Amino acid sequence: MPALGVNIDHVATIRQARRTIEPDPVWAAALAELGGADGITLHLREDRRHIQDRDLRVLRETVQVKLNLEMGATEEMTAIAVDLRPDQVCLVPEKREEVTTEGGLDVIANRDRVAACVERLLAAGIDVSLFIDADARQIDAAYDLRASSVELHTGRYADAANASERDEEFRTLLHAGSHAVQRGLLLHMGHGLTYRNVRRIAAIPHLGELNIGHSIIARAVLVGMTQAVREMKALVSS
Ligand code: PXP
Repeated sequence: MPALGVNIDHVATIRQARRTIEPDPVWAAALAELGGADGITLHLREDRRHIQDRDLRVLRETVQVKLNLEMGATEEMTAIAVDLRPDQVCLVPEKREEVTTEGGLDVIANRDRVAACVERLLAAGIDVSLFIDADARQIDAAYDLRASSVELHTGRYADAANASERDEEFRTLLHAGSHAVQRGLLLHMGHGLTYRNVRRIAAIPHLGELNIGHSIIARAVLVGMTQAVREMKALVSS
């Protein structure tokens, strides 16, 4: 049964809508832990549209479970990670104009930049995950760079227009996941997963970690953070 990483970015999105101090993602992380989260995930974006540097600093002090920092493969972010030492960094592609992370990191096209970043993070004792599409060539490139894990992008599965497209995307994830495991990489998945579409993904063999954000926070607004995480944890564990 995979670990559940709860992405708290959108708690900060609500706060930043008014540039105020509430709701505090630090409180949300504590409540997520009470609900059974195995990890807390946050994305420090270059434009600081939701999570702020202060959030990462305080969360590093307070989070008791695995702290997973999503970030672009840049000099600035690598320096921050090496300074604050999250348990894991997940390298993601980042475009300023995007609403959320669209597609996986192209490890092949950005090999030198990603390799430099991975090397510095591993040397600092931080596990490195690469957020990539379900593509054997990208998985092989992640393996070559000595990444600890790959997080396969589940957005195409989540956004499939109909059941047969969804089945097709699921099979792609299944095959890519098995390729990653055969390579000796730890297997993670995430993006676009909801209370309705998560069960099939959670049952994929050898899946170690799921990172889920928007759907949990959307439910938390209505039922509370702890309850929302508890409900997702039950689905992921069943
Ligand atoms: N995993 C990664 C690498 C992501 O970039 C995101 C979005 O920040 C997620 C998981 C969570 O996606 P969602 O908010 O759609 O659950």
